[in-house]
Amino acid sequence: MPGSAERGRPARVVVLVSGSGTNLQALLDAQGTVLESGGRPQGFEVVAVGADRDGIAGLERARRSGVPTFVCRVGEHPSRGEWDRTLTEAVAAHQPDLVVSAGFMKIVGKEFLARFGGRFINTHPALLPSFPGANAVRDALAYGVRVTGCTVHFVDDGVDTGPIIAQGVVEVREEDRADQGAALHERIKEVERVLLVDVVGRLARHGYRIEGRKVMIP
Ligand code: GAR
Repeated sequence: MPGSAERGRPARVVVLVSGSGTNLQALLDAQGTVLESGGRPQGFEVVAVGADRDGIAGLERARRSGVPTFVCRVGEHPSRGEWDRTLTEAVAAHQPDLVVSAGFMKIVGKEFLARFGGRFINTHPALLPSFPGANAVRDALAYGVRVTGCTVHFVDDGVDTGPIIAQGVVEVREEDRADQGAALHERIKEVERVLLVDVVGRLARHGYRIEGRKVMIP
């Protein structure tokens, strides 16, 4: 993807959510106001927010910011493939340069990856390749790690296996080891929000290329 200068406009970003949407909020807060030049200080603009369910804080955050939303529920489609097709079309309608999975708890399908592969990023609450999947914080605690964190990566056809863009480190405290990981997850999310904004901003402003497993941001 080219950077801001070549593109001549902010990168269009569609964010997918399933829950509280605090990472989405960080992106909404960071995108900043429109400059006189028509640009945005961070080089990106959240143009739509999609979800796989209704009634979540993430959608409310988008609406409060005046960002268009859409909901695409698996259960309302005859098959997972049909759902994937509808989701792909719903996202494509907003012509994104980047798509961000920010707590979106669904695995997308072939059609979605064919359309958005190489410009679809995910934020994950563990230091990949350790602890992929939906219960990363709990799994890391159960394993007994002393250090964990978060990973922002491109999405490929595996579960949390795509090229890594950036990682943030969080120490596990003694008191974390006695609970199910809620406090630790909150500390990870503090780091994650800053990391995600930094990554989306850098990708948008500088552009990037992916060489094998390496992501190069000039
Ligand atoms: C984040 O920690 C994100 O990494 C995680 O859900 C949280 C969403 O928080 N995603 C996954 O676990 C995906 N496997 P938020 O809704 O407050 O942004």
